[in-house]
Amino acid sequence: MPVLVIGAGGHARVVIELLQANGRSVAGLLDDAPGRAPVLGYPILGGTDALAALRAEGLTELAVAIGDNAARARLGLMAEAAGFVLPPLLHPSALISPSAILEEGVQIMARAVLGPESRVARLALVNTGAIVEHDCVVEEAAHIGPGAVLCGAARVGARALIAAGAVLQPGVAVGVGAVVALGAAVVDSVPDGARHGGVPARALAQRSRD
Ligand SMILES: CC(C)(COP(=O)(O)OP(=O)(O)OC[C@H]1O[C@@H](n2cnc3c(N)ncnc32)[C@H](O)[C@@H]1OP(=O)(O)O)[C@@H](O)C(=O)NCCC(=O)NCCS
Repeated sequence: MPVLVIGAGGHARVVIELLQANGRSVAGLLDDAPGRAPVLGYPILGGTDALAALRAEGLTELAVAIGDNAARARLGLMAEAAGFVLPPLLHPSALISPSAILEEGVQIMARAVLGPESRVARLALVNTGAIVEHDCVVEEAAHIGPGAVLCGAARVGARALIAAGAVLQPGVAVGVGAVVALGAAVVDSVPDGARHGGVPARALAQRSRD
């Protein structure tokens, strides 16, 4: 049975190729932005208002191919409410400990590593080449960016972003909705909603466009 994909941006291409690497076919894509072009040859079937009709046609599995954490969480709930299941998306080149715990809709991309007894909650995204060491917890719809490293027993709160190449010292906690900037070295915990960056990481100035 083919998988329906929500989102027709850059992350959708990565998700589609992950599905193909697992021998899965793609039914098509949904995107609420008007005028989206087909992605890797797959058609746009409509917006999210088409979810119920596509479920009624017999599609059951859905991938939320959206990089933005809040949107991924919201659309995952919407898809489940329409009766879809969100299978874990695991690239065949990822190294996943047999004792790692993975919830529905997780996305573990190419060459990512999940250590023993790590836990990745629903709709969280562990991007290309990221390392989530033993006993780490990645909460719902968080995003561990490409090449980021979570040393042992680090915790990342729901919808937080650990940007590409950042490193978390063992045992530190990053709060709900927080952002850790590209290349940061996080040696102290990061409060909910905060933005920290640098080496060692400190609170960043407010966003210039805020
Ligand atoms: C943290 C981040 C979101 C900041 O973006 P921004 O809001 O556009 O930030 P600004 O450019 O307005 O910079 C705000 C301040 O933070 C500083 N800053 C920005 N990025 C920084 C970084 N990676 N390390 C250290 N300082 C940084 C800026 O120098 C600026 O400081 P100043 O006012 O003293 O000059 C961005 O750098 C980032 O890391 N994005 C994540 C990208 C990513 O990995 N996405 C997932 C890929 S799939």
